[in-house]
Amino acid sequence: MANPLFRTKSIDGLMVESTGDSGLKRTLGAWSLVGLGIGAIIGAGLFVRTAAAIAERAGPSVTLAFIVAGIGCAFAGLCYAEFASMIPIAGSAYTYSYTTMGELVAWIIGWDLVLEYAVGAATVAIAWSQYFNNLLKILGMGPVPYQWSHSPLETMAGTGVHGIVNIPAIVILLLLSLVLVRGTQESAMLNGLIVITKVTIVIIVIAIGWGFMVPANHTPYIPDPTTFTTAQGVTHAYGGIMGILGAAGVVFFAYIGFDAVSTAAQEAKNPSRDMPIGILGSLVICTILYVLFAHVLSGVATVADFRGAGSEASVAFVIQKYFIGYGWLAKLVTVAILAGFSSVILVMLLGQSRVFYSMSRDGLVPKVFSETHPKYRTPWKSNMLFFVFTSLFAGFLPDSIVGEMTSIGTLFAFILVCAGVWILRKRRPELPRAFRVPAVEVVSVLGIITCGAMIYGLGWTNWARLGGWLVIGLLIYFGYSKSHSKLNT
Ligand code: ALA
Repeated sequence: MANPLFRTKSIDGLMVESTGDSGLKRTLGAWSLVGLGIGAIIGAGLFVRTAAAIAERAGPSVTLAFIVAGIGCAFAGLCYAEFASMIPIAGSAYTYSYTTMGELVAWIIGWDLVLEYAVGAATVAIAWSQYFNNLLKILGMGPVPYQWSHSPLETMAGTGVHGIVNIPAIVILLLLSLVLVRGTQESAMLNGLIVITKVTIVIIVIAIGWGFMVPANHTPYIPDPTTFTTAQGVTHAYGGIMGILGAAGVVFFAYIGFDAVSTAAQEAKNPSRDMPIGILGSLVICTILYVLFAHVLSGVATVADFRGAGSEASVAFVIQKYFIGYGWLAKLVTVAILAGFSSVILVMLLGQSRVFYSMSRDGLVPKVFSETHPKYRTPWKSNMLFFVFTSLFAGFLPDSIVGEMTSIGTLFAFILVCAGVWILRKRRPELPRAFRVPAVEVVSVLGIITCGAMIYGLGWTNWARLGGWLVIGLLIYFGYSKSHSKLNT
């Protein structure tokens, strides 16, 4: 037998598996999947990380960063859609790579997706905590004390007060983990309502904010290259091309989620037709909204705003300060954003448990991750274990660190998916594909280059974190997964 590191799962076996009884119910149609996509996509990336990208990386040229990130996602999205249409099975990029690039790469992707889904959910939970505090302020009930709503790595400006643990972030993770234990059908219905609210809010902010933009805030559109030092003491590029690439890496977070649609393939009614629609449809809608929204945000408020008081709950801040006569909107937006963040966290936690469900059935992680609830048929033990894991990140780290870790981990996974789709075309050209990437060689290479450029832009601290994460993953693979793999038998 060939080297076990490169053994692949048989794609023909997978296709049989995907039509059999997986223990998961098939309840989602095309629109539910687009909804699931938008539900996962619009969130902290737009309502929190955009302001950070303006403040710390690119100023108004954040809109160009959104375009770069959107292009990278479009290439990767096409590749995801081809895979999802031919391997309609839970597990997303992990499963695709298991059939194309072998067990070791599959493990690396699966491990890497923990950064995307679990650490991503933690990032959004931290953002949730910021807007929750804003809501309490609006209602006159005061914010949760700084110490109990921030990580130990954050300090309140001018006071020296440190955070201890972010309690609201942990509470929202617990509540949503419990929702997931009850089942995806109920969650998908709730998600539909939230998606409509979220898109409406984005459109209202664009429409009203357009009239409050000040040309001076957009001048110069691309700031001169210099550097910026974060509160944690990390110095990176600000302005110029590197600023835009770094900002693209940061706001790339805002696009994460369209691929979560592919983790629900085993719950789709007609996966080969509905998966490409779900993935690409939600991506296109969000890209248009993002560029317009970022243009308005950077045109209404200044970079100094986003470095100061506007660094938290930034959109509510901008409305309160600059949208004269629209006080009601700040309240509405805060509530809608809280609901919107909840739907994002839900889909990310769902994606996470689905990936580990697949990995567990393949023997690469313990059986506990694929044990389903006797009544709800959800992987409930996995949901609860990931609640604990995500809480550690959400409770004790700032959004900048977990947000950028999410971005870099996902970008890396996207690169492997772009490569994988091309490899499978070469190795198994005869397999039926309900959706085919046009000019696959070009799309695959451009996807790899664009995502690679964003990884480059994120800077060495993030490369080091990704490297550290991958080393831990390799230790687990060689210590446990390799010998427990179902492919051994
Ligand atoms: N794209 C999702 C968000 O921005 C993860 O919150």
